[in-house]
Amino acid sequence: MSNTRDIAVIVGSLRKESFNRKIALTLIETAPSTLKLEIVEIGLLPLYNPDVDDASPLPPAWVEFRARMQRAEGVIFVTPEYNRSVPAPLKNAIDVGSRPYGKSIWSRKPAAIVSGSPGAIGGFGANHHLRQSLVFLDMPALQQPEAYISGVDKLFDASGSMSNESTREFLGKFMHAYAQWLERNTPSS
Ligand code: FNR
Repeated sequence: MSNTRDIAVIVGSLRKESFNRKIALTLIETAPSTLKLEIVEIGLLPLYNPDVDDASPLPPAWVEFRARMQRAEGVIFVTPEYNRSVPAPLKNAIDVGSRPYGKSIWSRKPAAIVSGSPGAIGGFGANHHLRQSLVFLDMPALQQPEAYISGVDKLFDASGSMSNESTREFLGKFMHAYAQWLERNTPSS
């Protein structure tokens, strides 16, 4: 085991100027050096269909995503809320990674969730809908601190950098809490 943990960051928005992607980049900037965070893209994954999974060849994007996620030692989800739930591309990535049955790449990987919205409740609904899936996927999820980032449209400067110092500080504390909790929740084998 290396001293640096390989952490996959999954962003629920496909939008180029996504505020949640900018939050993810801030998490990468503020994470402790024991974690190596990398955004794993989900936008080109074909929609999950069990018939396709039963045939060959498999879509190369599924194969690549599953292999990359297999190596990850933890997963951080950063997501907007769409209609009080998670956006479809994120749910699709979860479904692709969860199959074939018995070969889920999610099992036992310690997770954290950050939700962000321009609205006042910071994507609370998406954050907790996602937690429901993580229970079934057998992923322990960091409980405290909770991260519902509201007013995301006012947190960044013109270059896309986090300009709100208290939110940057909070995200840094969140990452340090995750790093400590990850060590307590990493499977021994
Ligand atoms: C939204 N938005 C939204 N916001 C929210 O707080 N609760 C919600 O249920 C929804 N629902 C919703 C549905 C759809 C289809 C869209 C496109 C948008 C607004 C959303 O939070 C806003 O567009 C964010 O900026 C999206 O995040 P990114 O793309 O900036 O990361």
